[in-house]
Amino acid sequence: MTPNNKRLRVGILFGGRSGEHEVSLASAASVIRGLDPDKYEAVPIGITKEGHWLVGGAAQKMLPEVLKGGQRVVMAADPTDAALIPLDRSGGGQRLDVVFPVMHGTFGEDGTIQGLLDLAGLPFVGAGVLGSAIGMDKDVAKRLLQVAKIPVVPWLTVHRPEWERNPREIQSAVEAKFQYPVFVKPATLGSSVGMTKAHSREELAPALNLAAEFAMKVLVEQCVVAREIEVSVLGNHDPKASVPGEIVPHREFYDYAAKYLEEGTQLLIPAKLKPAQVEKIQTYAVAAFRALELSGMARVDFFLEKKGGKVYLNEVNTIPGFTSISMYPKLWEASGISFRELIDKLIELALEVHREKARTKYQIELPEGAAGALEA
Ligand SMILES: Nc1ncnc2c1ncn2[C@@H]1O[C@H](COP(=O)(O)OP(=O)(O)O)[C@@H](O)[C@H]1O
Ligand SMILES: [Mg+2]
Repeated sequence: MTPNNKRLRVGILFGGRSGEHEVSLASAASVIRGLDPDKYEAVPIGITKEGHWLVGGAAQKMLPEVLKGGQRVVMAADPTDAALIPLDRSGGGQRLDVVFPVMHGTFGEDGTIQGLLDLAGLPFVGAGVLGSAIGMDKDVAKRLLQVAKIPVVPWLTVHRPEWERNPREIQSAVEAKFQYPVFVKPATLGSSVGMTKAHSREELAPALNLAAEFAMKVLVEQCVVAREIEVSVLGNHDPKASVPGEIVPHREFYDYAAKYLEEGTQLLIPAKLKPAQVEKIQTYAVAAFRALELSGMARVDFFLEKKGGKVYLNEVNTIPGFTSISMYPKLWEASGISFRELIDKLIELALEVHREKARTKYQIELPEGAAGALEA
């Protein structure tokens, strides 16, 4: 609560120029429903697939309407001014107290929006520029996880120009390192877009070509036969892990269709695990949160090998799905934090990071007389 019972104006950023545009709408609607109306005033800000920013009526039902018929605005990269300025200069700008970016994938989860919010001087939910960018790059994230001694599935990074110049050499490198099947995935995408399970040499080149359409870097990874376990992490300096849950895809792997288009994938909450396995996975999740410079929230996804029981960290999601049936809030619910409390905590964590940033000096005081030298 702010002093004098003033409600906080929470900008909900949704949509965006990403393959996960539609998923974002569902997440944003449920975040808005989760905001306690006594404490917060929701300001839905839709970003179209073309990149127009639109604001409209605050009703949660109107998210698609905001995208269709809202008023066009820009976010000012000037921290002293209103945050949202109407493009047609009609009326004044809108002030915001905090922003909740509910956009998955490119231009939402990768640090770019976070950079703009930093310039605008606005507190925001979730990881900052660095953590978001790291979380979005599966190759960089794995390298940092290795330094933190968190096990990851062996992989090979292929840069697009390298692949285009020398496909034979890449194919040999892949086959020297791995047995088929291998997973081929764009380094900087989510929702299983552009991803293939390649079962043979014939499938490798098409898989690399496809992944290279979606990113400048591609990962080729050993395929593991594993259960998929996910943990939610919440906090800034003292992050906590939820109980783990399990995803049971009904397809060959947890691909785009299994994630969003079809029913059939099961979420088991909590996952059936031994106490020692739970502890190990939670410890890795929190260690990863720190190693990858995250803040606020993250869903950390693991593979638990069916044979031998080895645990690998697969990936982190800094803006996980946020519908009321999504794993991130569900795991917190099972750990004793309701959806509404979760939103409260995330906003409080955003304000905490912002207060800390405000304590940092960004300018130096020049010694007396030095200013003259700059003027000369
Ligand atoms: N190395 C692997 N071995 C086995 N299955 C994998 C592997 N990599 C990915 N998968 C399958 O593909 C899904 C999506 O891969 P993931 O790396 O999580 O990408 P995304 O960011 O698109 O979710 C996983 O949930 C899993 O089902
Ligand atoms: Mg995943």
